[in-house]
Parts: sequence; structure tokens; C-alpha cells
Amino acid sequence: MTDFYPIQVSELTKETKDCVAITFDVPEEIRDDFAYKQGQYLTLKTTIDNQEIRRSYSLCSSPVENKWQVAVKRIDQGIFSNFANNTLQVGDTLEAMLPAGNFYVEVEPSKTKDYIFFAAGSGITPILSILKTHLAKEENSTFKLFYLNRNVKSIIFKEEIENLRNTYFGRLEIFYFLTKEQRDIPLLNGRFTEEKLQELTDKIIDVTNVDECFVCGPEEMIFLIRDQLVNAGLSKDKIHYELFFSGSSEEDKEKAAQAVKHKFEGTEVTIIDGGKEFHFEMDDDYDNILDGALASGADLPFACKGGVCSTCKCKVIEGAVEMKINYALEEDEVAKGLVLSCQAVPTTEKVVVDFDV
Ligand code: FES
Repeated sequence: MTDFYPIQVSELTKETKDCVAITFDVPEEIRDDFAYKQGQYLTLKTTIDNQEIRRSYSLCSSPVENKWQVAVKRIDQGIFSNFANNTLQVGDTLEAMLPAGNFYVEVEPSKTKDYIFFAAGSGITPILSILKTHLAKEENSTFKLFYLNRNVKSIIFKEEIENLRNTYFGRLEIFYFLTKEQRDIPLLNGRFTEEKLQELTDKIIDVTNVDECFVCGPEEMIFLIRDQLVNAGLSKDKIHYELFFSGSSEEDKEKAAQAVKHKFEGTEVTIIDGGKEFHFEMDDDYDNILDGALASGADLPFACKGGVCSTCKCKVIEGAVEMKINYALEEDEVAKGLVLSCQAVPTTEKVVVDFDV
């Protein structure tokens, strides 16, 4: 069973022309359940034009603010993002799952750490939450933010970020990169490239001192930054990333196509969820267990359906599956048999998966 809780919109703030910040009033009796870590996300559900829509959005608020806020940037043809930007009103109720996600490190107030952050566009949302939290709780830590946008007007949360720089004077450095506006410093014009990252690690980032690096944005940007920083000597386990979109690169498409090739036709699937069993036979129309199960009437948790959020994870108890893409589970989780059901192509005659994990 998927648990959703009704939460009411208490405030709507236009951050830019195409981005709205939504603050929720979480009822007192479920506030403890809705406690979250900086960098986690909410999965929201609503019905638009008779269609049930689910989307995950990172919380941009910090747990230290005792506030639940997400920001939704309008995307072309985006059903939920257009609804949020055009139609949603203060007082409306949306449904939300409990906060989830692994894009954080624990706060360590007694430590002095150096953090670096890379964000593009709405990728700033979890990073803002992390920044606010660690700035407030780790008095001696320092932070550098590299933030990519089209132009100054499109910078989401610019005012709030500037306020943080002033409040925590000397501990937060900000570098705005713009793609559609030229400034005097060539380094800051245009997107992150190999050359720019080289320049950053030569002149601005001392990788030997970096304790944690957080990256949030589109896939190519994340992997470019990760690889460049690793080349410059930063250990991979210090680099944490959150993908906002996936499945679009050639590499992903190729991987997904390979997995689908290995699909067993007509697998007998057993789902264990909430202690109960549900059986169905995989239909030719679906290549993954989640879609197959939903089409057969199961009620299972999911959000992104893109291998990114891990809401749909389950454990393979019997049989085998191959994942199309996986940007959510760590290697040790996969080794324990966990899979993303939205990406899990069954490759054996019988498969049993357990969602109670
Ligand atoms: S629903 Fe997000 S990873 Fe499957």
C-alpha cells in the first residue's frame, strides 16, 4: 500500500517567471512522521483533468526552519509543473508521501568541513536545503556554490542565497554561471565544461581540502563534474549527486534496450506488499514489473518511473530481473537483491519480489 497524506498549500511564492515555491501546512498530528533530512524530497499526488499525476520535488526548505517547501519550475508540456505555476491556489490540498531520499550527509556540528556544490536551474532546491542546514548547524564549515542558470532573471532563490551569504559572512562563496548573459569574467560565461572545471580545480577549489561535494542537475552535467573532480584527485565517495532527469543519454538508451532484450515473455510475478501476496502474469505491453503490476490492479509505491527516486524499490526473493537504468540504489543495495521495480525487466519464468523492505 502506498501511503499518501493530505497537506494543504499555505503559501505560494513566484521565485521567477517560471518557478513557484509551494509551502505546505503539515498537520500537527503527522509532523513527526514528516520530519526530514536536508536534501530529501516529497512525492506529491493530485488529479489533473481526470488523470492521477505523481511527481517528486526536493524540499528547498531546511529542517531547521520547521517548514516544508518545494519549488516547481515550469517545463514545456509538464502537466504538474504548469498546474502548479498557473492553477494551484493557497488553501488547496495535495497528497504527499513521507519525505524520502539519500541526498544528504549527517550534520556534524563539532567538525570543520569544506563543502562544494554544483547546481543547474531547479537543481538548486535540495542544495539550498543542505546549505541552509549545514550553515546553521556547523559553525566552522565553509561552502562554495557553483550555480548555473540562463540569465540573472532566471536564478531561482537568488535573494535567499544572497541573504545566506550576508548572514554567514565569509563562510559562503557563490559563483553564478550564466549561459545567456555575458559578463566580464569568461570563466562564468556558459555551462560547465572540462576546461572550466579544470580552471576551477586549478584556481578556486582545492580538492585536497574538500570534504563533501553535492551535485544536482541533468545527467551529463553530473557525470562531467564527477569525472573531472575524480581526475583532479577527489575521492568518489565524497561526491553525492541527485539526478533530476534520466534516461535521455545514448548510454542509458543502450543499457535499457539491452535489458529489454533479455525479457522473459510471460513471467509469473508474485508481489509481496504489506504482508499480502499479489500474482500476475507479465503482459507483452509492459517491460518492467511496476508497470505490469499497476496494469494488473496492484497499488504500489512509485514516483519518478525514471530510475532516480527509489520510491518503487523492492527485493528480489526468487528468480531474476535486469534493471534498465539505476541512479538510485547503491552498489551494496543491489548486491543485497534490491531493485527498482520501475526499471526491473523480469528475465526468468517466475519472479517473486518483496516491497516490504
Ligand atoms: S519510481 Fe522512481 S525509481 Fe522507480
